[in-house]
Amino acid sequence: MSFSTDLLAWYDHSARSLPWRGERAPYRIWLSEVMLQQTQAETVKGYYARFLTAYPDVAALAAADEQAVLKLWEGLGYYSRARNLHAAARIVAGELGGAFPGSAEGLRKLPGIGPYAANAIASIAFSEPVPALDGNQARVLSRVLAWEEIVRTPFDLLSPATALMDRVRPGDYNQALMDLGAAVCTPKSPKCDACPVAGHCRAFAEDAALEYPHKRPPTVKKQQDRTILLMYENGKLLVRCRPKGLLGGLYEFVAVEGHFDDGADLIAALEDRGFAGVRLIRPLPEAKHVFTHLVWRMRGWQAECDAVPEGYTAVDREVLSALPFPSALRTYREIAGKY
Ligand code: ADE
Repeated sequence: MSFSTDLLAWYDHSARSLPWRGERAPYRIWLSEVMLQQTQAETVKGYYARFLTAYPDVAALAAADEQAVLKLWEGLGYYSRARNLHAAARIVAGELGGAFPGSAEGLRKLPGIGPYAANAIASIAFSEPVPALDGNQARVLSRVLAWEEIVRTPFDLLSPATALMDRVRPGDYNQALMDLGAAVCTPKSPKCDACPVAGHCRAFAEDAALEYPHKRPPTVKKQQDRTILLMYENGKLLVRCRPKGLLGGLYEFVAVEGHFDDGADLIAALEDRGFAGVRLIRPLPEAKHVFTHLVWRMRGWQAECDAVPEGYTAVDREVLSALPFPSALRTYREIAGKY
């Protein structure tokens, strides 16, 4: 039996039961793949259902307000996914007359659809035999092939991955590899004894699964110290919408670069930025958020002030609850919600 036959036989009785499995509607498959890009399937389930209730088809999403889309996305992180999803829906519903491009190549032209998502969607929705190469699939295949080169990006494995694919059921084949990578061929403790394709795996034959994939040394993430202020003016909390770039379009609290051991230095830094009459009320817990290339190390203060520079809006609790905030600020958002 071939690699793909054994893999698919296993998939047919062991596939994870997930709400987007068995779907053929490109809109639903696209939505699931975008949500699944940086997020575990378990977390995605609830968001996927809520999103489809709010926006059952591409026309409904195209007609939605961006802030409402971001609000539904709140907590999933990587918000550019939501903005791109919305932009792509407008292109599909508008220029393309409601029909998704029918190939991986066409899908890649839409905002937010990279080579991985394009191949995943095209294989599942249109049975195109293109591999959905992400880190999981690259790990599995680098082990099966005992791939000796450094895997810089999963697409380094494009040609052997394409050669191995099942031509009849490419969508199931890709999803079978996803499940195998998630449940069996895991990074640190692969369950080779339970693996349906161990007989085809060169790394298993060499008892060397953990040696693959060969990786380049990790890049060091930039550490950024920030002080976050729940700053109140006349009992209302100051917020502003972040400009384009990191977390663009989401809301944030008053924030200052750096940490301040002396409250007077923090007040001086705030006054430099145009705040006046600042009073520090109480320190808040520390928090840390790890982005792809950056780490925010945050300290917090609750404070009050009498005058505010341009760009901030003072909101009450009800308005606050309707604004989208990034997960990075969750600790302070939760405290603000209780105040
Ligand atoms: N991760 C990315 N796409 C997936 C899918 N279709 N099923 C399960 N996990 C996934």
